[in-house]
Amino acid sequence: MNSFDLDQPIIELASPTERNYWTIRHAVEGVQIFGGIGSGKTSGSGRMLALKYLKAGFGGLVLTVKPDEKQSWVEYCQKTGRSNDLIILEPGGRHSFNFLSYESAQSGGASSLTENLVDVLKTVIRAGEQQDKGKGDDPFWETALDMLMFNVIDLCQIAYGKVTVKDLYNVAQTIPKNIEDLKLSSEENAKYFHKAFEAAKERVNQQVEEWYLTLSHEDQERMQDELAMETELLEAIPSARLFRFIDQFFVENFITLTDKTRSIIDFIFSGFLFRLLREPVYSMFCRHELSTVTPEDSLRGKIILINLPVKIYHKVGRDCQILFKYLWQRAMEKRDIGRNDRPVFLWADEAQNFIHEKDADFQATARSSRVSTVYISQNLPNYLASMGGQHGEYKVKSFLGTLATKIFHANADIETNKYASELIGDAFFEDHGDSVTYAKNFSHSHSTSFKLERVVRPEEFVRLRTGGPNNKFFVEGYLHRQGDVIFKGQNHIKMLFQQNYQP
Ligand SMILES: Nc1ncnc2c1ncn2[C@@H]1O[C@H](COP(=O)(O)OP(=O)(O)O)[C@@H](O)[C@H]1O
Ligand SMILES: [Mg+2]
Repeated sequence: MNSFDLDQPIIELASPTERNYWTIRHAVEGVQIFGGIGSGKTSGSGRMLALKYLKAGFGGLVLTVKPDEKQSWVEYCQKTGRSNDLIILEPGGRHSFNFLSYESAQSGGASSLTENLVDVLKTVIRAGEQQDKGKGDDPFWETALDMLMFNVIDLCQIAYGKVTVKDLYNVAQTIPKNIEDLKLSSEENAKYFHKAFEAAKERVNQQVEEWYLTLSHEDQERMQDELAMETELLEAIPSARLFRFIDQFFVENFITLTDKTRSIIDFIFSGFLFRLLREPVYSMFCRHELSTVTPEDSLRGKIILINLPVKIYHKVGRDCQILFKYLWQRAMEKRDIGRNDRPVFLWADEAQNFIHEKDADFQATARSSRVSTVYISQNLPNYLASMGGQHGEYKVKSFLGTLATKIFHANADIETNKYASELIGDAFFEDHGDSVTYAKNFSHSHSTSFKLERVVRPEEFVRLRTGGPNNKFFVEGYLHRQGDVIFKGQNHIKMLFQQNYQP
């Protein structure tokens, strides 16, 4: 049943002479809130927008950086009668999400599962690397890492018929260091890798055997020729082909990498898996086969909050939230608006923590899948630090271009203020202080000229009100909509947000 009208107002923009609305249509084109620390992002515009979205029946996903965010959302949901829709995924909580089973169920078969998993894992791992060291642009180790993931996942699938984080970790940890090591596969010193390899080989051989028995007598005769046998069975049995690739990869490519490259890749992949294997995240994302929450719950009006605040759980808190976020984004992209048009939000305060390389692509389709992304962050340099790499500034600005509404609160960051000022743009102002002083003595004619100037100068953002008792709980901010007249013929409006706003 569809019941959400894109023109439904979310925020009223009103003055004594004009009334206009910021609607669901605007919401699903994305929102970026900027402002310095303590400028009123969270308690001013953020809080109000959250309450409005909840009141309007949005589903959503909330990522957390600070430990008090859970409590805020519990209160927001209480105030808007949405408490029953709030699902909190947290350590020791009653919800769990098994991302591997979820992905298996989403994927159409073994090979597409491997592709999907590699895509998800690499997106998460790269986002983490980018945040840590900014080496996310090195194509060589990226490719080597992708190949490693592909082959380890495929090996586990062939050997055990499924993929678990434990198996991936154990296999990745025990890949032989050299060719000698690879051959040492006697029972006693067989490591996990060898066992998986043998198990895979056995499974493939079994399939070969079964296949052979289905052949006619003549064909079996023909198979006496090794080359013919090889060609036909690789054709007939996909896992035999795959196993051949895996074998080739480890023997010819991976084991022969230099120690340094190998140890970087091992370290990144195993380190990532290792963090997932530790509590509390193991129980939340890996231990239980069945998930009690999935991204699709948001489409049914649930608000999923992941209470793994980055301030407390650091890297693993961020990895897990980016992982969930990416799966959630893909689920939203697949939705059928014709059958379910409920708007959903993707909420991230201190959003720079959760940016990944596919975000810009996702934003391009967010509007048509009715996703209102709300990212809150202090300034442009924050984004630059987390998206950085080559052409960092260009990446950040074009990414910000995908969030059509921007709210600028008080800020001391010069770059952000300049950006805000430039976005809002120039207009012609009457210029009174002119150069006619000399002529004035001789003439009565009054000449006016017009001068092109910034409508809001960068330094005006420094002085905006930031809430709290001194400001009577008012937070000021400029709301700007890209390429659109929103109010009084302008693309922006100076607004007051009340910290004690009640829905
Ligand atoms: N619920 C509230 N009521 C009144 N003042 C608040 C409330 N929450 C925060 N403040 C104050 O308002 C200002 C803005 O806070 P906050 O919204 O947390 O800023 P930001 O998210 O931009 O860092 C700060 O001075 C803070 O102490
Ligand atoms: Mg805040």
